[in-house]
Amino acid sequence: MVRGDITRQPVDAVVTAANARLVGGGGVDGAVHAAAGPQLLATLREGWPDGCGTGAAVATPAYGLAPVQWVIHAVGPVWRGGGHGEPAQLASAYTEALARADDVGARSVAFPAISTGVYGYPKEEAARIAIRALQSAETAVEQALLVAYDDAARERYDRLLAG
Ligand code: APR
Repeated sequence: MVRGDITRQPVDAVVTAANARLVGGGGVDGAVHAAAGPQLLATLREGWPDGCGTGAAVATPAYGLAPVQWVIHAVGPVWRGGGHGEPAQLASAYTEALARADDVGARSVAFPAISTGVYGYPKEEAARIAIRALQSAETAVEQALLVAYDDAARERYDRLLAG
């Protein structure tokens, strides 16, 4: 776990919290697209014109985010009360992101708190799911870094990781 901006992490791959159309947006996705530059969106449009499903992830080069090599676009669920499959979809966004990291050979991967901004997922429950998914996944990734964007997120990850 690290407190900071995900576009500043010295890792092989950075995960962004994308939408299912893969068209870019605000929040962490806005920051990642701004840092990577317009080739990121162009590559998504060309490779995935129909986007991808909720709980899925796709990998592209990271362009202007170098020395980061890859951006992994993971689609978390919109929170709709928790009874619409959101927990499994959120866990899948993390494990699919790790699977894409394995596809491209990334060994260190930084993750934002997927779905906890605009998509409204309760932060505590989302953090538990993220930790459980990352700790139980079968992957060749050696370092999965949870990036806490504010002090509350850092405190939450610290507490849950200690427990
Ligand atoms: N670095 C790390 N974390 C960040 C950064 C950053 N630069 N910017 C924002 N965050 C954190 C937020 O604090 C939040 O906890 O990322 C988390 C996810 O928030 P959102 O970016 O709103 O992502 P999400 O809730 O998954 O919503 C996805 O938002 O921008 C659109 O295209 C995106 O439509 C998609 C939706």
